[in-house]
Amino acid sequence: MTLEGEIALVTGGSRGIGRAAAIELAKEGAEVIINYLSNEEKAKATCNEIAAIGGKASAVKFDVANTEETKAAIEQILKDKKRISILVNNAGITRDGLMMRYSVEDWDQVLNTNLRSAFIVSQAVIRSMMKERKGSIIHMGSIVGITGNAGQAAYCAAKAGIIGLTKSMAKELASRNIRVNAIAPGFIETDMTHQLTEEQKKSIFSVIPLGRIGTADEIAQAVLFLASQNSSYITGQTLIVDGGMGM
Ligand SMILES: NC(=O)c1ccc[n+]([C@@H]2O[C@H](COP(=O)([O-])OP(=O)(O)OC[C@H]3O[C@@H](n4cnc5c(N)ncnc54)[C@H](OP(=O)(O)O)[C@@H]3O)[C@@H](O)[C@H]2O)c1
Repeated sequence: MTLEGEIALVTGGSRGIGRAAAIELAKEGAEVIINYLSNEEKAKATCNEIAAIGGKASAVKFDVANTEETKAAIEQILKDKKRISILVNNAGITRDGLMMRYSVEDWDQVLNTNLRSAFIVSQAVIRSMMKERKGSIIHMGSIVGITGNAGQAAYCAAKAGIIGLTKSMAKELASRNIRVNAIAPGFIETDMTHQLTEEQKKSIFSVIPLGRIGTADEIAQAVLFLASQNSSYITGQTLIVDGGMGM
């Protein structure tokens, strides 16, 4: 197993992409801490799934959009576990709507949950990585952070911000042997995309060269690659996993 001895924190690990990533990391031997917002049942179910395959996982509730709550939770994790060597900043939300009618409250919530959270969680974790002179941080971006998308101005701005944050963090932290990368998924089957209408899905499929929706497991494989030593010479990059959608 390639991640034996590693301790991974996955934000938004109760469902979807975060859940799949937590399971893959655990399969490779990492102890996984699964963060969630409100879905305790699903977070515990993910921990149980990991335990059933012989892995180690625990669930921690905190709102990544809330600075104080997040800082306190990570401080407690570091007290208990002594270090975090893999961080997957995955928690995210969408709140779609055309700009003309879009509220500033929604803008703030989307930016805080998808972008500011990645900064706050990373800031709370990197001291321990710097001490260990080792770490891999993976931010969850999106292909629409590169292409833009009508009706998703706030979400696209947040995900574009993730790319800049990734590059800046990679440059700041490389000398401490901390790698920072992002993943830009395309259209992936999770609760987030279940909200779309059949008509919206049809028009999205028509622009995906591979002609299908991606799975959370396919994104989890990219997380595993960037977390492991298989990507030891890769930092500051955004890995696009989108079936060709953004070409
Ligand atoms: N699905 C796609 O097509 C797609 C495409 C590109 C990028 N992405 C990105 O991939 C990431 C995961 O998406 P997904 O599709 O797996 O979403 P999802 O199925 O809706 O799951 C979202 C996860 O984030 C957690 N979460 C939401 N707000 C949070 C907060 N304030 N604090 C802590 N946790 C919070 C949720 O916890 P609870 O279970 O407690 O609610 C849940 O675990 C997101 O960053 C998303 O933007 C997804």
